[in-house]
Amino acid sequence: MAFTNFMATTSMALFYLLLLLIPSSNCADLDSHHDHEVPKSDVDLLEFPLNLEYFEAELFLYASLGYGLDKVAPNLTLGGPSPVGARAANLGPLIKDIILQFAYQEVGHLKAIKKTVKGFPRPLLNLSADSFAQVVDKAFGYALKPPFDPYANELNFLLASYLVPYVGLTGYVGANAKLQGSVSKRLVAGLLGVESGQDAVIRALLYERAHKKVEPYEIIVAEFTNRFSELRDRLGHDGLKDEGLVVPRHLGAEGKIEGNVLAGDVYSVAYDRTPEEILRIVYGSGDAGVPGGFYPKGGDGGIARSYLRSV
Ligand SMILES: *[C@@H]1O[C@H](CO)[C@@H](O)[C@H](O)[C@H]1NC(C)=O
Ligand SMILES: *[C@@H]1O[C@H](CO)[C@@H](O)[C@H](O)[C@H]1NC(C)=O
Repeated sequence: MAFTNFMATTSMALFYLLLLLIPSSNCADLDSHHDHEVPKSDVDLLEFPLNLEYFEAELFLYASLGYGLDKVAPNLTLGGPSPVGARAANLGPLIKDIILQFAYQEVGHLKAIKKTVKGFPRPLLNLSADSFAQVVDKAFGYALKPPFDPYANELNFLLASYLVPYVGLTGYVGANAKLQGSVSKRLVAGLLGVESGQDAVIRALLYERAHKKVEPYEIIVAEFTNRFSELRDRLGHDGLKDEGLVVPRHLGAEGKIEGNVLAGDVYSVAYDRTPEEILRIVYGSGDAGVPGGFYPKGGDGGIARSYLRSV
């Protein structure tokens, strides 16, 4: 008993000694809103992906349930405006089940980020069918007739979903290299893991249907994905970072295969994108200072706002 007490006293003494030894400047660098060890330089990088996570959460919640964060987790919106034009998609039981899982995963991601940094309110999101149709028309270089409707059926919704987690994935790969703190790196690696998983599921489901025609257009699924990937590369202005489901052989893994169920560079390592490239893509404008597309008023957080101010 006396020995245990002695051990306890010694451990307490050591603990206080260690506290004294931690330089106070370390504490000053930490995000003041949260007591996690997040260096100031990491805060903007961790908040930026909230823009995409809000988008994904709302799209997947509405598609599978017919309502979004306002009903499922209103506190997470921090009072930001409700999305415009989102609605339930016409999905069969399997795809609906998968999309609902993705939706709740995104709710978890919003919580995980906000547990670590303060974050910002949900930005205005334009998830209307027209908003997606504009992206599709831009990808093809002409107006599809009738306009593409992401909510009309399962295949269309999977194609619309092809547009989403991959952008987050490349952003997390890009952010990771710039993070300083271990808590930040752990969080981003964990978010990256699940975003890549979502992208892989969507791509695999579409790959099964790669040669199927997307009705009523005379265009197959693989062609849609190639056009979407080319558009993202065009808007991102930083070379090849995106690949459709069927590629010229030299772009496939090891330059040996045309099937491309997952996108990757010459070593099959995931591509990275900067926040600026991501904003150019999701605004549909090719310019991080010119909001539009899915974000009529632009994104939020230090990084997105810094580009909006600079115009
Ligand atoms: C949401 O916020 C309100 C007001 O701050 C609070 O009373 C409530 O407990 C919160 N709900 C959840 C689920 O966090
Ligand atoms: C949403 O996007 C469509 C297509 O670009 C546009 O017609 C509509 O005005 C937009 N709504 C808002 C609120 O920005």
